[in-house]
Amino acid sequence: MSFLLPTNEIRKDFPILDTKVHGKPLVYVDNAATTHKPQVVIDSLVNYYQTLNSNIHRGIHYLSEAATQEYEAVREKVRAFVNARNTCEIIFTRNATEAINLVARSWGETNVKAGDEIVLSQLEHHSNLIPWQMLATKTGATLKFIPVDKEGQLDLSNLDQLITNKTKIVAFTLMSNVLGTMPPADKIIKRAKAVGAVTLCDASQYAAHAKTDVQALDCDFLVFSAHKMCGPTGVGVLYGKEAILNAMPPFLGGGEMISHVEWDKATWNVLPSKFEAGTPNIADVIAFGPALDYLNKIGLDKIHEHEMTLTQRLLDGMAANPNVILFGPKTTENRGGVVSFELDHIHPHDIGTVLDFEGIAIRAGHHCAQPLMSVLGVPATARVSFYFYNTPEEVDMVLRALEKANAYFHRPVKTNTLPQTPKGQVQGVVTK
Ligand code: ALA
Repeated sequence: MSFLLPTNEIRKDFPILDTKVHGKPLVYVDNAATTHKPQVVIDSLVNYYQTLNSNIHRGIHYLSEAATQEYEAVREKVRAFVNARNTCEIIFTRNATEAINLVARSWGETNVKAGDEIVLSQLEHHSNLIPWQMLATKTGATLKFIPVDKEGQLDLSNLDQLITNKTKIVAFTLMSNVLGTMPPADKIIKRAKAVGAVTLCDASQYAAHAKTDVQALDCDFLVFSAHKMCGPTGVGVLYGKEAILNAMPPFLGGGEMISHVEWDKATWNVLPSKFEAGTPNIADVIAFGPALDYLNKIGLDKIHEHEMTLTQRLLDGMAANPNVILFGPKTTENRGGVVSFELDHIHPHDIGTVLDFEGIAIRAGHHCAQPLMSVLGVPATARVSFYFYNTPEEVDMVLRALEKANAYFHRPVKTNTLPQTPKGQVQGVVTK
């Protein structure tokens, strides 16, 4: 695998990539946390406030109508990006976390009761665990987990015992933010359908790195965040099948989500407004549009191939370093460009600090996946995560910096130069 995108050209679109950190060129490999934004996205934000600023869906004046059109045009871009049937199936939220909470509260509290089961995987980020824990506590439902095997893949051997007639929803990640694993979504969704359970796919890490097609997946819900795919922070997307969204009560109450209001009762607006109470994040949604155009122009397939070339290079380099302990898939099969590791006897935070002094930005910690850390048997890992603007040279810089970190922490300790105590005597203790 050796496909590479023309990063020399691409990097010119990302002003932040010229930053110097501690006098060294920035090597940004913390893309699973957030990605950088091309100039077109930054320009769009400035342009909105300079030329369009107004509230949407409410005004009858020129600016309001122009801003409404731009905002709704992005909903259509998102629909096309994930191949949804209808724009009313695309709900804008603050982030993917809010989108999952919306489903857990609105759909969950309506459909889940005591004795029901909620099936998740052991790969989940806290954002796809805590909302279901809260729902289980409230309703008396039980949580079950698809286990992770030694290779960091989901073990589906007991899937029929895990997903049963008691299962109401199966919620799982399309790509682990810790291990990079891409689980076989088709098999999980097929089993969920066989027992009549609803499915939710967390595409927070996936949507930016591989083609997402909600009709091909046939999932009921899918969530992701704009900031992990070249867009601004503060914008999440909930995709839901129209019939299911229609049957759900609103999540938040207020302006825009209503049809008619009296003192003691109200009726709800149609989709998607029913789930977009209050003034939304207009500027950032509009600036998400050029981010999607940018990704489409490069092509999701090419992005994935580029990242796999970098991942292969990193995995090869790590395999050649006996001090690296790798977590998760050891090959580029069924995975994305997220690689978790540790160096023998060195805390991941120390690795992160040494790499920072080399100008390299990685993430170190539990990555909002504490239960998964307990499966891996560690409190934390160090994590490199790629995007399409990263280069093979940057991979080599990371590998060299890891050798440097290893040499630093495993340097020979100077021998004790204090006066030697005669054998059998303890210094400072008077013996008679
Ligand atoms: N969920 C993001 C990460 O994994 C913040 O870093």
